[in-house]
Amino acid sequence: MSTTFLIALFLHIASLLAAFGAAGIMLLCNLKLRAAKTGADAFTWGIVAGKTPLVFPIASLGLFLTGAYMTSKAPGDAWGWGSGWIIASLVGLIAINVEGKILGDRHGKEMREALKANGPGPLSAHVREVANSRLGWILTIASPALVLGALWNMLTGAQGSPPSLGHAFLNVAVAWAIGAGIGIWIQSKAPAAAPEAAPSAVAS
Ligand code: HEM
Repeated sequence: MSTTFLIALFLHIASLLAAFGAAGIMLLCNLKLRAAKTGADAFTWGIVAGKTPLVFPIASLGLFLTGAYMTSKAPGDAWGWGSGWIIASLVGLIAINVEGKILGDRHGKEMREALKANGPGPLSAHVREVANSRLGWILTIASPALVLGALWNMLTGAQGSPPSLGHAFLNVAVAWAIGAGIGIWIQSKAPAAAPEAAPSAVAS
């Protein structure tokens, strides 16, 4: 393995770690936003949740560029652009970026506007609804889950037991579906409305 190839593999895995670090921060922010009792409690988590998704396209570009290099320099033509495990992982990576850009950005904007309208006082029913939206939870868990499916494709592909194209797509699709199921489960476990929110709900 040449030094350049090794550096590309190192950066490939560093990009993956960056994406997972950001996914962990998003999970924490979303749990904290959901558990917050006042706008003041939620504010910092809302700011971090608004900025962290910037990491995803950068880490994805890192994965793609380093992956593209390693695809074109496969030792002894062991793999190439026609390999199912590479095609399915690339398509999966593009899919979650498009999903994040369209649905994730819309959800983030809704959260920002709801927090702004709420101010520092007790959290309104609307903020709690946005903080526990089914779509938000599906995005938070299903996207990193798909990446785990791609990780499985990568390990089996690079270690010499590559899955077929259909199997590789099934791996990422099943991983996404399991993640979506876990997201829906977390959404169903919303904590009861905070008692502090009750007076404002009665007053309004
Ligand atoms: C979708 C998320 C991805 C994840 C989680 C991921 C993860 C990994 C990991 C952990 C390895 C090391 C495997 C091993 O050495 O046993 C690897 C290798 C590799 N990846 Fe990815 N990767 C992803 C996307 C991509 C993309 C989009 C491409 C191509 C454009 C790509 C091309 C490669 C190649 C060619 C190797 C083999 C290098 C080697 O191990 O010798 N990867 N990937």
